[in-house]
Amino acid sequence: MKRIEVKTDAPYEVLIGQGLIEQSGTLIRQTVSSKTALIVTDDIVNSLYGEALEASLVKAGFECFKFVFQNGEGSKNIKTYTDILEFAASKKLTRDDCMVALGGGVVGDITGFAAATYLRGIAYVQVPTTLLAMVDSSVGGKTAVDLQSGKNLVGAFYQPKLVIADTDTLSTLSGNIFADGMAETVKYGILFDREFFSFLNENEARLNLEYIVEKCVCFKRDIVDEDEKDRGVRGLLNLGHTVGHAIEKLSDYGVSHGSAVAIGTVIIARGAYKCGLCKYDLSSEIIDIYNKYSLPVSTDFSAAELLEVCRHDKKSGADGITLVLPEAIGKCRLYKTDFNELLNIIEKGTE
Ligand code: GLY
Repeated sequence: MKRIEVKTDAPYEVLIGQGLIEQSGTLIRQTVSSKTALIVTDDIVNSLYGEALEASLVKAGFECFKFVFQNGEGSKNIKTYTDILEFAASKKLTRDDCMVALGGGVVGDITGFAAATYLRGIAYVQVPTTLLAMVDSSVGGKTAVDLQSGKNLVGAFYQPKLVIADTDTLSTLSGNIFADGMAETVKYGILFDREFFSFLNENEARLNLEYIVEKCVCFKRDIVDEDEKDRGVRGLLNLGHTVGHAIEKLSDYGVSHGSAVAIGTVIIARGAYKCGLCKYDLSSEIIDIYNKYSLPVSTDFSAAELLEVCRHDKKSGADGITLVLPEAIGKCRLYKTDFNELLNIIEKGTE
């Protein structure tokens, strides 16, 4: 088992390895002294790992409750959030108790937000079961729910007490869900490390899961350690996300997060080059790796439609938004742009 320490205001560990769900009760007990644990999960993950997690928690002495909601981004809303809070209150969870998020990004984000606000904050543990959640959303304490107006518009920075990434859970992921996580995995290569990008190009990710998850968690740890509250360098992690979020919203979340981020990254790489903001056109190299991992690289939404949604992105200000521009594989920069220029970049990026 690998241990990676995240040095936020309240530091915590990310544990990576095989067979960790069965050990999770003991691992959580070493960090959290709660009497009661509330597992929050979705129906699909519950049918796969709910029992094993619960048995492990009970064996370690926790009294256990479980809240299960319907799988999918459509559940990441205020209604599910308040249902979790009402359930926690009905089971009389106290400030000394904890929540355990078992699942992918939706489960982790909504449980984290419920934990951040229930009784003004109780402990929570992330047990990510998708590649996307392991390499990105379970680490760094961004918690949120969506509003009708857009994704992740209500939330809080609230760090977990522990993250347990059991890489065995990745073996049950469908091709699409695995590909989703590969979009965020490839992102780290484009942002920080050409060698890692080449590794992903030349090897099969599914055969190197522990290495890949560990590498990505270390990239994310370094950024979160430097900029926990997303005031500067953490913005780099939004590569492809501004346009990506617009695609997700316009498709009514029919296009998944990873797919949308992949398309968004291609549009920004190509558009920024064509607008003279980047010296090299990296789009074909990026498209090649997305093709390898079965990720889409284009959209039918028009530049005007995409821009309209980008204007209301939570990162947008009155005059514009900060983009992440890929200058080379392994090197990106933040760039403040206005909406006229953004339209131009998206138009050229979608040509
Ligand atoms: N997923 C981007 C971040 O955690 O900042």
